[in-house]
Amino acid sequence: MADKSLRSQRSYGKIDRDGFIHRSWIKATGLPDHVFDGRPIIGIANTWSELVTCQVHLRELAGFVKRGIWEAGGVPIEFPAMSLPETQMRPTAMLFRNLLAMEVEESIRANPIDGVVLMGGCDKTTPGLLMGAASVDLPCIFVSSGAMLNGKFRGQDLGSGTDVWRFSEAVRAGEMSLADFMAAESGMSRSAGVCNTMGTASSMASVVEALGISLPNNAALPAVDARRRVLAHLSGNRIVQLVKHDVKPSDILTRKAFENAILMHAACGGSTNVVVHLLALAGRLGVALSLEDFDHLAREVPLLVNLMPSGKYLMEDFCYAGGVPAVMKELGDLLNREVMTVAGRTVGEIAETGEVWNREVIATREAPFGPSSGVWVLQGNLCPQGAILKPSAATPELLTHRGRAVVFEDIEDYHARIDDPALEVDATSILVLKGCGPKGYPGMPEVGNMALPQKLLGRGVRDMVRISDARMSGTAYGTVILHVAPEAAAGGPLALVRNGDEIEFDGPNRRLELRVDAAELARRRTAWEAVRAAPAYERGWYRLYIDTVLQADRGVDLDFLVGKSSSVVTRESH
Ligand code: FES
Repeated sequence: MADKSLRSQRSYGKIDRDGFIHRSWIKATGLPDHVFDGRPIIGIANTWSELVTCQVHLRELAGFVKRGIWEAGGVPIEFPAMSLPETQMRPTAMLFRNLLAMEVEESIRANPIDGVVLMGGCDKTTPGLLMGAASVDLPCIFVSSGAMLNGKFRGQDLGSGTDVWRFSEAVRAGEMSLADFMAAESGMSRSAGVCNTMGTASSMASVVEALGISLPNNAALPAVDARRRVLAHLSGNRIVQLVKHDVKPSDILTRKAFENAILMHAACGGSTNVVVHLLALAGRLGVALSLEDFDHLAREVPLLVNLMPSGKYLMEDFCYAGGVPAVMKELGDLLNREVMTVAGRTVGEIAETGEVWNREVIATREAPFGPSSGVWVLQGNLCPQGAILKPSAATPELLTHRGRAVVFEDIEDYHARIDDPALEVDATSILVLKGCGPKGYPGMPEVGNMALPQKLLGRGVRDMVRISDARMSGTAYGTVILHVAPEAAAGGPLALVRNGDEIEFDGPNRRLELRVDAAELARRRTAWEAVRAAPAYERGWYRLYIDTVLQADRGVDLDFLVGKSSSVVTRESH
């Protein structure tokens, strides 16, 4: 196993003053002399933290990864990475995804490691870890958190997020008491693990598995299932082999692998957030992937997975029904089956092992749960660089709609007026929210699924067309047009929309048009430029982010982070 050509040997293999320094201090962690004989040193980038139930079990799970690494002849060294708790961070965890990616990239580059196990699960940790590792391009494998147990409340299953939105609307409509709403709180999140719906975390975990950068069944095994520990152990085994054979992320994460991921995302009715994360990851790797690919590639893929928010069941049910390999089997020849994975098996070989155990949860392509279910990518004068919508979570009757805009200039304006009885709004109106894009908020938060006006909820209205430059939670639903680019704060046409303007949404033809003539829009633009506010942040991460963040159609990465840095650092520290 000993390999003197390993990257780690340039530090730990040196018989001189510098080697003394590298070895002496790391030995103090409890490592004996003989482990520096040329065995692969494997980093474990762990987003464990007590701030987030999604990753609170990852220290323990890392212990099983370490067992696997030791067993295969490697040396595990665990290090922390930002945890990005989705439900805790202000103004939004998305503001820090790229900061995690930078942290991971530089931690891997700067330290004497040969490969890395990435451990995360909450929404932004998965893309952040992958983006950073992809830019270094050392062998890596992903071990996800796994989902929490199904929520339970008064005899019913509760879905993370999805039922919060549903119950919250019911309270506002007077159909549920506040006391009952509060009582549901403890039943929703019952264990460690990520949200139990097909929200962003499980969508990303499914996509990670379809990309081939994790072992099979990584997405669906519950966080507390003993088989996740086994998967962690086996992932520790595999990373040592990946280092031995120098299998890098760029060997796995090819254009064809991304195509498979987009198909899996559609079959699962996955989160809209996956779009920006995959675009950003592709940008790191130099893989040509466009916003339109999400629409075009997935048109033939129906909804095969019956999970909230597009369907009925939860991640535990998905696991017991067969998980991602079973969906791969159903996708059949739509997949690029020859694509190699970190498991050492092709996608086709893994798909052959898949089996569906519950047809209420995973359907056939011949009898799916819904029609074509990938995201729709819209074009038009309101979104010159695109916008997206998740049809499986929308109201079919609203997918073609013409209505008058009710405009909110920013999130504070929205909160101040949405429940004002005097607000001029009816069920045919289109709610427009500005100032919630990457630069505007900043960080592009999940506020696009804005709650409906209380007076309309009271009349039984449960969905309206909503348009914004924001994202929405992967657990949310509704006829919600998101990721409008360019955003309002960057001078996109969204900034020019005024109350009463007519907007036409033609989903089947993928059009989103502001019915205001060009001369009037030009006048409004001149007026907008004149009152444009100065940047609100003058220092620190916010400033760097706002100055350099790309729009949604480029994955919301920072412009100077696109591409790779490589794993080569030639200068010594002393
Ligand atoms: Fe972490 Fe939902 S809050 S996955």
